[in-house]
Amino acid sequence: MKAFVTGITGQDGSYLAEFLLAKGYDVWGLIRRSSSFNTGRIDHLYLDPHEQPRLRLVYGDMTDGSNLSSLISEIKPDEIYNLAAQSHVRVSFDQPIYSVNAGALGTLRLLEALRSCNLPIKFYQASSSEMYGKVVETPQSETTPFYPRSPYACAKLYSYWQAVNYREAYGIFACNGILFNHESPRRGETFVTRKITRAATRIKCGLQDRLYLGNLDAKRDWGFAGDYVEAMWLMLQQNQPDDYVIATGQTRSVREFLDEVFGYLDLDWNQYVRIDPRYFRPSEVDLLLGDASKARRVLNWQPRVSFEQLARMMVDADMELARRERVIQNHGKEGAAPWSQ
Ligand code: NAP
Ligand code: GDD
Repeated sequence: MKAFVTGITGQDGSYLAEFLLAKGYDVWGLIRRSSSFNTGRIDHLYLDPHEQPRLRLVYGDMTDGSNLSSLISEIKPDEIYNLAAQSHVRVSFDQPIYSVNAGALGTLRLLEALRSCNLPIKFYQASSSEMYGKVVETPQSETTPFYPRSPYACAKLYSYWQAVNYREAYGIFACNGILFNHESPRRGETFVTRKITRAATRIKCGLQDRLYLGNLDAKRDWGFAGDYVEAMWLMLQQNQPDDYVIATGQTRSVREFLDEVFGYLDLDWNQYVRIDPRYFRPSEVDLLLGDASKARRVLNWQPRVSFEQLARMMVDADMELARRERVIQNHGKEGAAPWSQ
């Protein structure tokens, strides 16, 4: 089996690539040219010295339709996982046009590339609980109406409907995974969970003394990214394409995440956290709570990692990084260049 993964350098892309390689897939990943290395999350997968590498990276961009088209006809994948997006909600208010170009039109470009090559390729679309936005019912399920609250969420909603439309109009096996927030030690450093675990461990190691955050009252249904990529794959293994909510069924506030993380480190976050209005959003999503009973029933999927385990896993990984950073800093103070050690 051959899979093509956009967004392979991101958090989910790296876990999905690991998962698919372990299942024996050949994995092709789309990467963007960057002036510095951007493959840190997948470097450990890239070269297997004992066998031919089954992970291949190709250059491209979701804003470049002709490139996507030639890649799809050349690779002829069995499955496409469309994970690429400008995925930061706050940033989408600063860069709405780009976020929509990559996140919405990018999906359309990929679907058109798929349609025009006339192969029975299965398609997974990374849809998001952000589409529920100003929620009209709680918990949110596949039948809950959408109410997007950001350029990012509007782009995701466009992609969601295009995936449904290509399924209905052209019979393409297209699935939407409506994933609620999922985190991991590989989470981008500017999302709130990772920002907190990184800062708390650096505070514990004496590397920083303040953490600036925005709205602490927002509530999210947080799961572990490693559990969620399995659900993406399961959707494409069914007889019929469909859309599924993937969530834990528990919601916690940012404040509760702070309690968990700082408590684990024996610290009181009130002493270190300050509110900075720069991190408020023009319109906020106050509460997300997913009902994943359809995924449990049809896909036989359920999350394995609890909220507490997730927070601790992220703290443990960031503590390791903070300790290394402290060692490098101490060597620096002694006058030795860290790279010469
Ligand atoms: P992420 O870590 O931000 O990764 C995003 C990926 O998209 C990166 O590989 C990035 O490449 C790539 N990308 C961005 N713009 C691109 C472009 N114009 N062309 C090609 N590639 C581009 O996001 P994630 O957390 O793994 O999430 C994966 C997907 O699921 C995203 O679409 C996200 O919106 C969606 N989602 C995430 C969650 C969540 O809680 N994590 C929940 C629901 C849905 P670079 O590395 O070069 O930047
Ligand atoms: N990023 C960030 N930084 N968020 C903060 C901060 C801060 O300093 N302080 C408070 N928050 C609040 C945000 O206002 C939001 O309500 C909540 O923490 C979570 O923010 P993020 O971690 O940035 O995630 P998100 O929920 O906006 O979006 C993530 O989840 C979506 C799924 O619901 C992203 O991964 C999206 O790509 C994904 O679709």
